[in-house]
Amino acid sequence: MSARVAVIGCGYFARYHLAAWTRLRQAGAELVAVCDLDPAKAGRAAAETGAAAYTDVATLLAEVKPDLVDIATRMQTHLPLVRQCAAVPVGIIVQKPLAPNWADAVTIVETARKANAFLAVHENFRYQAAMLRVGALIASGAIGAPNWARIAFRTGVDVYRNQPYFYDEERLVILDLGIHLLDLARVFMGEVETVYCETQRRNPRVRAEDTATMLLRHVSGARSVVECTYEARRLPLARAEAFLEIEGSDGSIVLDRQLQLSLTSRGVESHEDLTPADFDPADPAAYVARQSVEETCARILRAFAAGEPAATSGDDNLKTYALVEAAYRSAASGRAERP
Ligand SMILES: NC(=O)c1ccc[n+]([C@@H]2O[C@H](COP(=O)([O-])OP(=O)(O)OC[C@H]3O[C@@H](n4cnc5c(N)ncnc54)[C@H](O)[C@@H]3O)[C@@H](O)[C@H]2O)c1
Repeated sequence: MSARVAVIGCGYFARYHLAAWTRLRQAGAELVAVCDLDPAKAGRAAAETGAAAYTDVATLLAEVKPDLVDIATRMQTHLPLVRQCAAVPVGIIVQKPLAPNWADAVTIVETARKANAFLAVHENFRYQAAMLRVGALIASGAIGAPNWARIAFRTGVDVYRNQPYFYDEERLVILDLGIHLLDLARVFMGEVETVYCETQRRNPRVRAEDTATMLLRHVSGARSVVECTYEARRLPLARAEAFLEIEGSDGSIVLDRQLQLSLTSRGVESHEDLTPADFDPADPAAYVARQSVEETCARILRAFAAGEPAATSGDDNLKTYALVEAAYRSAASGRAERP
């Protein structure tokens, strides 16, 4: 089955969505329309992709009648846009974070459910090639049952250059970035019983927390340390967006900042260089974003075409969002909190 896709929001990160849908043409995606309130951005995206340009979502929905709408706007706009799309209804993909707060995130999922509309969340970190490799190694039993992990994002990139709105967010690094790492913790280590979190605001120009150090107790009894910051001054720039160490009953996996993976399995050590052949050292972050966004879109498209929920469905993403909320509650209370 083919799906006629429309992308809403043609800002900074949408460039990866537009590239992904263009490349997924062979997989059955037809990018038919793009939309941005800013006509220059909509026009540029249309010129790059050959899709029709719109500045108004209602007009797009009425004229184009897409099968699937990919919402790549900022979180504050997700709920009204989901309401608009669910009223049609049309299949919906929403960028993370679903919403600025838990109540709106739940309303988004409920709105789609009541309208019987497909809803997937664009949660892409679990689909980074390196993370898929780590997941495959765990699933193969190479390290036995995982019982301890450290999952981190610490970049030397100036994130405020592409996303200057970060300065003014009321909740920053846990909601914007920690959400990806908490998702990885769920995927690799299972569901979570408690979250303890300490936050810091290390950059005085930023309104909210820019650093979070979290300790998770998983239902399995495993523990993981999940840490993220926008204030690490580290060069060379990392090839990996996230790096990790996972230990299990029979071995361990270490994925470092430069995409070097070391596996210890039942006393035998091995190494893999996960650097892709077409890696561009001048822009290390771009490769991971491009690859993982395309992989995420491809998987969501397959689920949509099969009439099945995406692995990153609204319901699944609420479980990750609940960890974000628990982390903020813990940072305020000074105690471990249940999601
Ligand atoms: N998954 C990732 O790795 C990743 C990375 C970066 C950003 N993001 C997410 O992508 C989303 C967008 O972030 P960004 O930095 O690209 O934001 P941005 O501000 O650069 O772009 C958003 C665009 O949406 C447009 N827009 C807003 N409301 C609209 C409406 N009603 N109709 C049409 N267009 C509308 C704006 O005009 C703007 O051009 C956020 O949810 C962010 O968290 C995800």
